[in-house]
Amino acid sequence: MPDSSDLPVWLFAYGSLLWRPGFEYVDRARGYVTGWSRRFWQGSTDHRGLPGAPGRVVTLSCEPELACWGVAYRLAPSAVESILERLDHREQGGYERHVVDFQCADGPRCGRWPALLYVARPDNPEYLGPASLAEMALQVQRSAGPSGTNVEYVLKLHAALTALEIVDPHVAELAALLEPAAPASAPEGQRASADEHAEPRRAAS
Ligand code: SIN
Repeated sequence: MPDSSDLPVWLFAYGSLLWRPGFEYVDRARGYVTGWSRRFWQGSTDHRGLPGAPGRVVTLSCEPELACWGVAYRLAPSAVESILERLDHREQGGYERHVVDFQCADGPRCGRWPALLYVARPDNPEYLGPASLAEMALQVQRSAGPSGTNVEYVLKLHAALTALEIVDPHVAELAALLEPAAPASAPEGQRASADEHAEPRRAAS
């Protein structure tokens, strides 16, 4: 008779775990969780910001009408405990583990099964909550922490979602404010001088 340790353990990723899982997995499936939406409402003082100068990273907001798309990883069975230990450490800035229903939408392989995820609830001390797009962009441009700049976090998340063909307007709109501007085309002959005097393409944090 199989015991619970034989059951597959899946982890749903919707933020940095999409492009940098940092653990061994044996399977990966694209899909979504219902009742949640991805929001840049969590403060980060340990990865993309500093104490007193938090960056903004994603968490999930409970919104019954919505769904959050991402990827679920099946953890390598022999390493489940150590993976979760490392992830608990990585996500210690306000996130807690929850079990949700993952809806797989990976071509012919459809189905629904339980998955873990990390969510930062509004009652955690690092929570920032909603702000206007312009305010969030300014805060992201100014923030950096041990894992890198906050701008890099937003742009990597946007690139990972785009690669998965996941459209998330909340992420895309913020990324559009942070992306390096396309170089303006100047007439032949003026190009060198225009480039020399170009403004820095984005604020360094
Ligand atoms: C996740 O990626 O699923 C959790 C949030 C984060 O680390 O950005």
